[in-house]
Amino acid sequence: MSAITLDGLIKRYGATVAVDGLSLEVEKGEFLTLLGPSGCGKTTILQLIAGFLVPDAGQVFINGEPMAGVPPERRNIGIVFQSYALFPHMTVFENVAFGLTMRKAGREVTRHAVAEALELVRLSGLEQRFPKQLSGGQQQRVAIARAVAIRPRVLLFDEPLSNLDAKLRRQMRTELREIQRRVGITTVFVTHDQEEALTLSDRVAVMSQGRLQQVATPQEVYRRPATRFVADFLGETNALVGVVRDVDDDHLTMVVGDALLRAPAAPGLRPGARVALLVRPEHVAVRVTPTRGLNSLSGHLSQAVFQGARTAYVVRAGDAELISTADSRAGAGLGSDGVFAEWDAADSIVFALDE
Ligand SMILES: Nc1ncnc2c1ncn2[C@@H]1O[C@H](COP(=O)(O)OP(=O)(O)OP(=O)(O)O)[C@@H](O)[C@H]1O
Ligand SMILES: [Mg+2]
Repeated sequence: MSAITLDGLIKRYGATVAVDGLSLEVEKGEFLTLLGPSGCGKTTILQLIAGFLVPDAGQVFINGEPMAGVPPERRNIGIVFQSYALFPHMTVFENVAFGLTMRKAGREVTRHAVAEALELVRLSGLEQRFPKQLSGGQQQRVAIARAVAIRPRVLLFDEPLSNLDAKLRRQMRTELREIQRRVGITTVFVTHDQEEALTLSDRVAVMSQGRLQQVATPQEVYRRPATRFVADFLGETNALVGVVRDVDDDHLTMVVGDALLRAPAAPGLRPGARVALLVRPEHVAVRVTPTRGLNSLSGHLSQAVFQGARTAYVVRAGDAELISTADSRAGAGLGSDGVFAEWDAADSIVFALDE
């Protein structure tokens, strides 16, 4: 049985359809991320799970139990928001104990649960501090400890790391993942940061306009995006527009400018179809001589942007422009004219263009 089942959820605000017929299962102990642009309905889904909002249609089940009519405080869910929402006048201990105090847990039980939760987030010893005496990262850890202390059936996170600076955010990411693995609580995590989603999750649910685009492992959504939207949203892609020339069992060839490119076949594509071929910058190499058996576009190097460990090379090939990211040490010696942007056909994905 799934820990959370969302079955045909619809939620409207006036004329806005925030969640548009969404069905999703989250397995026990799983870390699932809802990933999508601002306004696509992520927070609304968390609020439907938590019971702060009532769906217009569809149902939420937790451990198989229908949640219709069950108020938030009876759903046994731990929530961490973007703003840590700690109580400023309460100590760390009192903040973490809050949920237990509300449930009228005994003193010993509370003390034990708080100690355990603080140990989990590595804040033991700071019980008597007030939130303003803590760093942003520490405050966020208190918020996590508070959510975990009640031993919830489900943890919900709404962009909990977005207020932290880049370095701390990366550090907290790893820490959050470890904490979740140790407690093993089913987690739904919301973010619009694709890197965060890929690093943290067992599965990623990519959303657009209240609907699911794809639900799959990080590797799958990145390497095998189901839609053009998913491909564009998850990392950088090069897009080359062309026309399909031949299709065989598992490959197709397409014409882009005066080049012939190969790609894995996609269902429903016939010769003559207008298509976009997508390839990730890290799969494109820039070379001075072409390589047999690879897709190859001849052009010239129009830019080389040093990014630290990697360098982004921009190759202009006729009307097309391709970005290649390579190890900064690998690109030395490339001149500005007469280069080839190359990649393996297997690293290409082709989508039909409408119209
Ligand atoms: N209380 C409300 N009244 C009216 N419209 C709302 C309300 N809350 C959300 N919306 C609308 O519903 C849609 C989904 O909002 P939601 O907050 O779920 O998006 P989100 O994916 O969490 O976005 P963000 O990444 O910016 O937090 C948006 O179009 C938003 O404007
Ligand atoms: Mg939101």
